Amino acid sequence: MPVTVHNPVSKAVKREDTAHVAEKYRSFHNEGMGGSSLVRKQRYMEMVNQYYDLVTDFYEYGWGQSFHFAPRKRNESFEDSLVRHELFLAESMNLHRDMRVLDVGCGVGGPMRLFAREFGAHVVGLNNNAYQLGKCETYNREAGLEHQTALLRGDFMQIPAAEASYDAAYQIEATPHAPDKEGVFAEIWRVLRPGGVFGGYEWCMTSLYNAGDPRHQEIKKGIETGNSLPDIASFDDVTGALQNVGFEVMDAFDTADNSDPETPWYRALEGRDFTIKSLPRTAIGRFFTTWALRILEPLHIVPKGTTDVQDFLNIAADSLVAGGRLGIFTPMYYFKARKP
Ligand SMILES: C[S@@+](CC[C@H](N)C(=O)[O-])C[C@H]1O[C@@H](n2cnc3c(N)ncnc32)[C@H](O)[C@@H]1O
Repeated sequence: MPVTVHNPVSKAVKREDTAHVAEKYRSFHNEGMGGSSLVRKQRYMEMVNQYYDLVTDFYEYGWGQSFHFAPRKRNESFEDSLVRHELFLAESMNLHRDMRVLDVGCGVGGPMRLFAREFGAHVVGLNNNAYQLGKCETYNREAGLEHQTALLRGDFMQIPAAEASYDAAYQIEATPHAPDKEGVFAEIWRVLRPGGVFGGYEWCMTSLYNAGDPRHQEIKKGIETGNSLPDIASFDDVTGALQNVGFEVMDAFDTADNSDPETPWYRALEGRDFTIKSLPRTAIGRFFTTWALRILEPLHIVPKGTTDVQDFLNIAADSLVAGGRLGIFTPMYYFKARKP
C-alpha cells in the first residue's frame, strides 16, 4: 500500500476482529452506545488496551518509537524535539548511572532506551499492553540494552512491584489514561524509596478552558475520544493529586510555552512540515488515507472497521490542533515531585 494510505490498524488486531474491536472502543466514548466518563473510568484497562492494539503500528509509523509531543525550537526537526524533551525530563530528575528507574507506561520504549544509553540508568518499563511490550523487548535487545532494561506487564493503578523498590520514576503522557490521578500517583509514591523523584508530562486543559463553552467541550471530548482518555485533568488536579498522596511538588509548569511560536507542538499534525515520513501525521496525508480507505474497505482490501479507526484518529488530530491553537489544552504539563 502506498505511504498515503498506510493502514491505521495494528497487526495486534486480527483482520476479522477489526470491526468488532473498533466498535467496542467507540462505544466507550458514545453516550448512545453506553459510553460515559464513569464507564471509561470503570473499564479503563479494556478501553486503553483496545486503543493501543488498534493504533500502535500507526503511531510507530508516523511518530517513531517515542509516543509523545514536544515543544519545538525554530529550525529544529520533529525528531530532535522529541529527544530534547525527553532529555529535559531526565536531566531535571538527575537520572544517573546505576539508578533503578521505573518508566510508567513505557510504550515501545523510545524514552527508556535513551535514558539507559545516555545516563547509564537501569530502566524498568511498565505497560499494560502486551503488543507494545513485545515490540519494546525486541527493540531493547536490538539496541544491546537488555542488561540495562527490563519490562513489567501490569496496570499502573496496581503496580506489580515492592514498596520502595525504585530510586526514581517518570511518566511521559501515560497517566492521562488513568481513571484516577490520586490512585496512580499513590502507587508510584509506594514503589519509590524515600527521597525518590517522580517526574512527568501530563495532558491538561489549561486555565483558558471554559467548561461552559460548547466549542471547548467539543474539543475536550474529541481529544478524549481520539486518544482513549477517561477525562482530561486541569493543572490543579495534577499538582493537587501529587500533594494529596504525599509528594512534595518541586516544580510544575506548561512546557508548551517553550515552543517557538512558529513551531508549536501541534504543528506536527497540521501538515506544514511536508516529508514522506511526516505524511501520515498531516492533514493532507490523513485526507488521502481517509478517502482511499473509503474505497478499499467495501472492496475488502482492508478489513471492515478500518475507516472507523481512521475516523477516530482524525478526530484526535483535529481536536488536538484546535485545542492547541486556542491554548485550552496542553499535552506537556511538566512536573517534578519528591517523596519525602
Ligand atoms: C501515549 S503512550 C506514551 C508511551 C511512552 N511513555 C512514550 O513516551 O513513548 C501511553 C502509554 O501508557 C500505557 N498505559 C496506559 N494505561 C496504562 C495502565 N493502566 N497501566 C500501564 N500502562 C498504561 C499505554 O499502553 C501506552 O504505552
